Amino acid sequence: MLKIAIQKSGRLYEESIQLLKSIGLRVDNSKDQLKASVKNFPAEVLFLRNSDIPQYLEQGVADMAIIGDNVVIEKEVDIQKLLPLGFSTCRLSIATAKDFNYESIQDLDGRRIASSYPNTLRQYLKKQGIKADIHLISGSVEIAPNIGLADAICDLVSSGSTLFKNNLIEREIILKSEASLYCNSTSLLEKAELIQEIQFRMEGVRQADKYDYILFNVPNSKISEVSKVLPGLKSPTILPLVEEGWSSMHSVIQKDKFWTLISQLKSLGAEGILVSPVSKIVL
Ligand code: PRP
Repeated sequence: MLKIAIQKSGRLYEESIQLLKSIGLRVDNSKDQLKASVKNFPAEVLFLRNSDIPQYLEQGVADMAIIGDNVVIEKEVDIQKLLPLGFSTCRLSIATAKDFNYESIQDLDGRRIASSYPNTLRQYLKKQGIKADIHLISGSVEIAPNIGLADAICDLVSSGSTLFKNNLIEREIILKSEASLYCNSTSLLEKAELIQEIQFRMEGVRQADKYDYILFNVPNSKISEVSKVLPGLKSPTILPLVEEGWSSMHSVIQKDKFWTLISQLKSLGAEGILVSPVSKIVL
């Protein structure tokens, strides 16, 4: 039985559950449950507090986990990262009040910095040769400068709206983070097959996130030119249309190249372009 830990509540929860479902796991979860069985895979899902997951994983309470890199780094645990998952992207940053006369990190030498990430912050300051007084706060860190508790804060920033609302300005990014799939090395040996299966399925979903499926009609005379700009996974599929001299081409395109490619295809004579999302890709 594979034990997979995910966040009980918070920013990672929804997408973690969604990801488990999209890799075909039928998780029997309901609200406030701490553990759920999986109907069609030898696994159970543990719903844990975010900050506890790294230790539980290291100690073998869980075999795998979906967790933010930021928490893993902060907890300084010995676990293995298997796959970045591309959601819950954020950064751990140092911020000060708007009116703090900040030019460089040197300005924080001898100052007080409030944070829930003391280890990561300490490492960063050490590298920069800065001695600061770290105040450990477990939540609502952004309030600290406004109530005179600290000169700066070090906390997670996603949209930046919490900083903005508290009149703070981001000064230094000390870590970039996203949700990732982790496991512990003992489980990786003892439950290799199950862990690899989960990783393989998640890679399929991750690959699909990068691509769209595209099909369009094109004059036969343009097929070879179009193929050059549209490599697909191997090469495009071509099917003849009933109308003579025309074909339908099918392929996948990288989402980040979408608009450039569409204009190229149009200028080569492509018509009736249809684009749809891909749910899984196995390369
Ligand atoms: C995090 C973080 C910030 C906020 C930043 O808190 O601690 O307060 O998000 O996000 P923003 O840049 O989009 O405003 P979260 O709401 O995840 O809860 P937490 O306080 O439990 O960490």
